[in-house]
Amino acid sequence: MKFRIHELGKRIRCLHAHRMFDTARYDGRMPYRRCGDSGILLPAISLGFWHNFGAVDDFEEARRIMRRAFDRGVTHFDLANNYGPPFGSAEENVGRILVSDFVCHRDELFISTKAGHDMWNGPYGKNGSRKHLLASLDQSLKRLRLDYVDVFYSHCPDPDTRLEETMSALATAVQSGRALYAGLSKYPLKRLKKAVKILQDMGVRCLIYQPPYSILQREYEADGILDWLQDEGIGCIAFSPLAQGMLTPKYFDGIPEDSRAAKPEGFLQADQVIAQQEKIRALGLLAEAHDTSLHHLAIRWVLRSQQVTSALIGVRNVAQLDDTLDALHAPAPDDALLDAINAIAPAKL
Ligand SMILES: NC(=O)c1ccc[n+]([C@@H]2O[C@H](COP(=O)([O-])OP(=O)(O)OC[C@H]3O[C@@H](n4cnc5c(N)ncnc54)[C@H](OP(=O)(O)O)[C@@H]3O)[C@@H](O)[C@H]2O)c1
Repeated sequence: MKFRIHELGKRIRCLHAHRMFDTARYDGRMPYRRCGDSGILLPAISLGFWHNFGAVDDFEEARRIMRRAFDRGVTHFDLANNYGPPFGSAEENVGRILVSDFVCHRDELFISTKAGHDMWNGPYGKNGSRKHLLASLDQSLKRLRLDYVDVFYSHCPDPDTRLEETMSALATAVQSGRALYAGLSKYPLKRLKKAVKILQDMGVRCLIYQPPYSILQREYEADGILDWLQDEGIGCIAFSPLAQGMLTPKYFDGIPEDSRAAKPEGFLQADQVIAQQEKIRALGLLAEAHDTSLHHLAIRWVLRSQQVTSALIGVRNVAQLDDTLDALHAPAPDDALLDAINAIAPAKL
C-alpha cells in the first residue's frame, strides 16, 4: 500500500513536471558532442555547481538555473562532494531539486560527482584512499537522493596513495553500479597514462578527463594531454572556460562588488585578476573588434577544439546562464582570430 501511494505521488509529480519543461529542448539549438569514442553524447555546454548552489546561496535561484539549463538542452550537471559552502550542501540542494522537479527526467540527465579534496575531518576525509572514495560516493548518493551517478571522478591526484588503490575504488564504484563510468580530474599526463592503464587492467575504461582549460589557462594543452586523450578515445570536459569569470567584461575596470573575486569564500582572488588584467583587456578589445563579447569568444575558443567534448561553465543566476549559452549562436573564431589570441595568451607550460 505504501509503495502504491509512493508510485502514485511520483506519477502525479511526473505529469506536473512534464508541463514544466520546454518540449522543444532537443530541437538542435544545443549541439551534443561525442565523449571520446564512447556511446555518450554530452551537451557542448555543461553546468557545474561549484559556486552558487550551496546553503549560503539563494535556493530558488539555484532551482531556476537548473530548470532553465535543462530547458535549453543542458543535460549534464557536474558536482563534487565538497561543493557548497558548506561542503556537501550543493549536492543536498541539487538532491532536493532533482526530487521536486526532475523525478521523471533522471534518464535524460548525466550527473557526475567527485571525491579526493577535503571533505570531512580525520584521516579518511580526503585524498585517494579506497576508504575515502567509496565512503564519499555513498554520502554523495544520499545527498543527491540518487541510486547511481553517471560519472564518479577521482577529483585530484594523491601522490601519497598508490594509483592501484585509488583506481580500485573507481573500478568498484562502476562494478557495484554506484557509478556508470569513471573519470579523472587534474592528473598530470604521466600519472594520467598510468591511471588509465590500471583502470583498463581492472576492466574499467576512463570515460572522461576534467582539466581546467581556457584562453588564460592552457598548460594542459601545451603539455600534450588533450592530444593524448583524443588518441586514446577519452572525452575531455574543460572546466572554468571563463577562467572563473575573468573572461567576461566584468573585470575590465576593477573588481565589481558582487563578483566572485570580491567574495571572501570564493576561489578567485583579486590579485589573480589584477595580474591578468592587461591580457583580459586586450582580449576584450579583440572580441569587440570581431563583434562579439569576451565570454562568447572564450566559450567558442574552448569548443573550437575537437578534443574538447564540453565546456563546463558556472553561473550565479539565470541571466548569466542565458547569456553564456548564447555563445552557441556566436561564430567560431577563424584562423586570424586564433592567431591574435595566441599572441596575447600563448599555450605554454
Ligand atoms: N575538477 C575540478 O577540480 C574543478 C575545479 C573547478 C571547477 N570545476 C567545475 O567547473 C565548473 C565551472 O567552474 P567555474 O564556475 O569556475 O566556471 P566559469 O564558467 O569559468 O566561471 C563561472 C563564473 O563566471 C561568471 N559568469 C558566468 N557567466 C557570466 C556572464 N554571462 N556574464 C558575466 N559573468 C559571468 C560568474 O561569476 P561571478 O559570480 O563573478 O558573476 C560565474 O560564477 C564548476 O562548477 C565545477 O563543476 C571543477
